[in-house]
Amino acid sequence: MSTVLATSFIHSGDLIAVLYIIAFSLFIYGLSGLTGPRTAVRGNRIAAVGMGIALLASFLIEGMGNWTLIIIALIIGTIIGIPSARSVKMTAVPQMVALFNGVGGGAVALIAWAEFNDSAGFAGEPLTFVIPSLFAAIVGSVSFWGSNIAFAKLQEILPGHPIGAGRLQQPLNLLLLLIAVGSAVAIASGETATIYILVLLVASALLGLFVVLPIGGADMPVVISLLNAFTGLSAAATGLALNNTALIVAGMIVGASGTILTRLMADAMNRSIPSIIAGGFGGGGGEAGAEGAGEHGGTVRATSAADAAIQMAFARQVVIVPGYGMAVAQAQHAVRELATELEKRNVEVKYAIHPVAGRMPGHMNVLLAEADVPYDQLKEMDEINPEFSRTDVALVIGANDVTNPAANTNSESPIYGMPILNVNESKSVIVLKRSMNPGFAGIENELYFEPMTSMLFGDAKSSVAEITAELTAL
Ligand code: TAP
Repeated sequence: MSTVLATSFIHSGDLIAVLYIIAFSLFIYGLSGLTGPRTAVRGNRIAAVGMGIALLASFLIEGMGNWTLIIIALIIGTIIGIPSARSVKMTAVPQMVALFNGVGGGAVALIAWAEFNDSAGFAGEPLTFVIPSLFAAIVGSVSFWGSNIAFAKLQEILPGHPIGAGRLQQPLNLLLLLIAVGSAVAIASGETATIYILVLLVASALLGLFVVLPIGGADMPVVISLLNAFTGLSAAATGLALNNTALIVAGMIVGASGTILTRLMADAMNRSIPSIIAGGFGGGGGEAGAEGAGEHGGTVRATSAADAAIQMAFARQVVIVPGYGMAVAQAQHAVRELATELEKRNVEVKYAIHPVAGRMPGHMNVLLAEADVPYDQLKEMDEINPEFSRTDVALVIGANDVTNPAANTNSESPIYGMPILNVNESKSVIVLKRSMNPGFAGIENELYFEPMTSMLFGDAKSSVAEITAELTAL
């Protein structure tokens, strides 16, 4: 008797609902921890515990299916997930997010397909079940295939430059969308033949491929964030169809946060989301520039580590401006050592953080936090910009576009209107990079030709270490 009671309590909707409420309270609490580097790791762990509880609760649902398959899936997921998350380099996080996000979209599309087969083509099912399932099938499939292309571009398996059918691309995409939605309408109106769901899934898959292929490789972080939002919305739709509260809440959290993040990134780059989706900007991540003085025709002044060290040793304030090149060179620890050496000489050191420096949101904050740079030295753009006019040396480490004055002065420039760090107001600017190659936007930086600027060519990590060595020897 007591065993029967215990079993029925374990499978009761009340226990599952309570566990779900605990789970998504932990999701939300964990997410709030992700707002700062100090609390991010803990926030991530809290949300992971929430996900564990949500999984457990879902396994308690009466009639939960084939345990052998579930255990095999859990083992495969764990074997792939844990080592890849542990070994991924910081610069490769965007593509890993793309891959994991895509898997979520794919899972949602497969659930819709399985439900279609299980119910003999949604025969006799209410529209409250059919419509969210079909929405999830379309959006999940777009997200899965689009995310795979985003991954392949960032991993350089596919070329980063836009690949598309030119002016035919948009009409083609519209046609695919109409085919997918048309098949969905046919299914919702009572068509039960398998061909309809197959056409829907294939048209959505092609749409996912054809929307992302023409977008330049370096725009991928924004696209990934957008696809992330799509996956969240499709998961929420599946939750509505299956009447699963955990899926609805988790899906909406992902959908909302992905949408907000996409907006923030697009705003900080001064680009509209439709213009990013239309593609053609930021082809190969900025590796295509020519060596030398480029179109500008002006002269650049090269400097040495010894000169840079002398300038900084006698400065009152040095502002370090990190960018994507610091991430590539993994120079953050060397930068911290340089700052410590400067502070020993009573030089005030601050870090200027541009919202889209690097290739993912918070990229610089994460790297500098990893090197134990005190958080209060990291200054956001609005806070640091008024300080440049009182700065003796701005040390630009692998940052390019986020310092380009053309964003303020040249209305023809593709980055015109993007807010930048006004390093050119400093008394002296020292730029550490390997060549005169442009950054992500593929354009020349006028800053390099200004009289207060000198260039220290070389890998950022080695250059920073050389400056520190010179400083110590002074
Ligand atoms: P970029 O403008 O991309 O410039 C990075 C510079 O780093 C390059 O010019 C490169 O020059 C240099 N570099 C690369 N490897 C280096 C190394 N090992 N040592 C020294 N220098 C190295 O970077 P940024 O200023 O950080 O601007 C970010 C750009 O990415 C913006 O245009 C932004 O809109 C875009 N973007 C950002 C995001 C997010 S969310 N952060 C998302 C999408 C796009 P050399 O090759 O000459 O060394």
